[in-house]
Parts: sequence; C-alpha cells; structure tokens
Amino acid sequence: MSAQRASLPIAVFDSGIGGLTVLHELLVSLPAESYLYLGDTAGFPYGTKSLDWLRPRIGRSTRFLLDRGSKLLVVACNSATSAGGDVVREVAQEHGVEVLTVVDPEAEIAAAISESGRVGVLATPTTVQGGAYRRALDAQGRELQVTEVAAPDLAPIIQNGFPFDQRVMDTVRSYCAPLQRADVDTLILGCTHYPLVAPMLQRMLGRDVRLVTAGHAVAAAAQRALETRGLETENDTEGEYRFLCTGRVDAFRELGTRFLQMPLGEVEQVELRP
Ligand code: DGL
Repeated sequence: MSAQRASLPIAVFDSGIGGLTVLHELLVSLPAESYLYLGDTAGFPYGTKSLDWLRPRIGRSTRFLLDRGSKLLVVACNSATSAGGDVVREVAQEHGVEVLTVVDPEAEIAAAISESGRVGVLATPTTVQGGAYRRALDAQGRELQVTEVAAPDLAPIIQNGFPFDQRVMDTVRSYCAPLQRADVDTLILGCTHYPLVAPMLQRMLGRDVRLVTAGHAVAAAAQRALETRGLETENDTEGEYRFLCTGRVDAFRELGTRFLQMPLGEVEQVELRP
C-alpha cells in the first residue's frame, strides 16, 4: 500500500503559471519524484476576486486535482492559501493527503533574516486583505514593523506575458514606493508569480533589500513530509511532470515553457465539476 502510494505524484496547485516557480524548486530538490500541476487559468486571477467566489472554486480545483491521485499537495498560490487554506485542508483530509502552503515558510525566513525588523510584503489584494502574512509574521515571536502593499496588476501583467514596457515599469515602481518609504530591508514576494520579476524589483529596491520567496523552503518541507511518512519514490531516475489547466492549453504551454525554461510536454485542458 505504502509502496503504491509512494509511486504517486506530488500535486501542485496555482491559479496560473506562478506556481511554476515553486514547481521548479521541487524539481531541483526532489528530481526523482513525479508531479501533477493544476493551473486554474480559467479562474485567474484569484488575487482580485471575492471570497464568495474563491472559496468554492479553490475547493473544486483541489478536489479535482487530488481525485487524480497524489501523495502530497503543495498549494503554490498565496492567494489560494490566504482565501481558502482551510478549504484545501478539508479536501486534502478527505483524501488522506498532507498539505504544504506558501505563506508560513516565507514569514519564517523573513523574520530570521531581517536585521532592522522592517519587513515588506508585496502580494495580491486577496492575500493582503486576508491578513495571512500579518498573522504568520506575528507568530514569529519577534517585534517586526510590517509594510504590506497590495498589487492588483502585477500577477496579471506577468501571467499575460512579456514584453515589459514603460507602463509596466511605472506600475511596479509605484508598488515599490511605499516599501522604500518604510525603509524595509527584507521583502516577502507574497505571490508565486513575483519571482519572475525579481530582477526588476531588485533593481528598483537596491541590492541591500533581501527578497524572500517560498519555493526553496517549500521544497525542503516537501522532502521532510515525504520522509516522515515513508512516501519517497523508489524511482531513481528523473521523474515526470504533467500539467492540467482550466483555460487555453496553447497559452499555458507557451508561457509555461518560457517561465519553466524546460519543455512542458503534456498539457491537458480540464473542466472543474460543479
Ligand atoms: N500565484 C498566485 C499567488 O500566489 C496569484 C495570482 C492571482 O491569481 O491573482 O497569489
């Protein structure tokens, strides 16, 4: 039974292609594992939608994904974690699958590395309004001055692809301004799309501001979770990865290949059950 479970893929969920930044870290840290990724691209963006819309949608997406069979679920979407972390856990519990999310690991890293205690959070409106980072940072047992900036446009800009023009630069600059005024020394990239614009953010904020992303910590947590449950794959070659999306396959493949910088292979369009 356990050997059979161990051969199942790790499920990775995001509203779009941002979760590929987390998937990449998983592929590097756990190369022999297989992965099944769902991007709810027809539901994108999660970051500007109401909780009434998001919570059932997140439940349906994760149920659909876990019904395909997996041994661990990684929610590679801060907005989904913030709006529906409890919904995901309920669905995962029904399937007997452990869940890893992206908010807590970043809060832990930021609290550990910030020298001044002035920490910025750049995230979607859904994530900021949900207060997930405030709670996670409050729980770190350290006095921190937290500046949160809600960025309604940034994930859609990234999801819609490059090139970045002057208008995009001006938008990103406007999100950086309150962080500069608050003199943060550490910035949590509170959306899995944002590592894709890390070079731009770093240039605007300067080298001294440390950018915190979730991917590496989540990959380490996934490794621990599999070891604890004896669910590591017995495969000793490179595992496979497959993709599901709810929107257009060609758009997902085109953008996904560019961002993952590896061929995506099979991408299947799926329809979520009501
Ligand atoms: N990648 C998702 C996140 O981490 C987000 C964006 C969205 O769907 O608006 O928040």
